[in-house]
Amino acid sequence: MASLHHLIYQSTAAIDLSGMDLGRMLSQSRTRNTAADITGMLLYDGVRFLQVLEGPVEAVSTTFARICSDCRHTQVQMLANGPVAQRQFGQWAMGLANYVSSPEVGFVDPHPILLTLTDASLCMLLHDFQQYTGAGRVQHPF
Ligand SMILES: Cc1cc2nc3c(=O)[nH]c(=O)nc-3n(C[C@H](O)[C@H](O)[C@H](O)COP(=O)(O)O)c2cc1C
Repeated sequence: MASLHHLIYQSTAAIDLSGMDLGRMLSQSRTRNTAADITGMLLYDGVRFLQVLEGPVEAVSTTFARICSDCRHTQVQMLANGPVAQRQFGQWAMGLANYVSSPEVGFVDPHPILLTLTDASLCMLLHDFQQYTGAGRVQHPF
């Protein structure tokens, strides 16, 4: 069985994406992700994206390579990339949370200090995201 990987990155939107644009992108992504056995979630605050991709290592790499060359966003910064024991978003072909930045949950400052971000703080960030979406603020929960 292929080993399970996760990859987390953040990026900056290069264009003003409408809700409809986002919905279309999500729908295509979910179809492709389902076919590639990829799950995860995408956060968008109107300026930045943060995405978790999880699945077989090859599928994650191929998908991420495609995403990187997408001109709808820029400044793609990888936050984590490695094996995981289990999926965190196993039910989501790509969940979307659309939220306004708040003190409780913030994007990581796109700064070189990012490179020193520990797995523990990333886990905390993801946990916060899950809590946040669990609080009913998700726009497209599945
Ligand atoms: C922020 C962001 C997240 C994306 N997430 C995914 C994804 O999870 N899966 C996917 O297949 N495509 C995703 N895409 C779309 C891909 O970048 C790409 O446009 C799509 O896979 C079609 O690729 P193709 O034109 O080479 O066939 C995402 C794009 C952006 C901007």
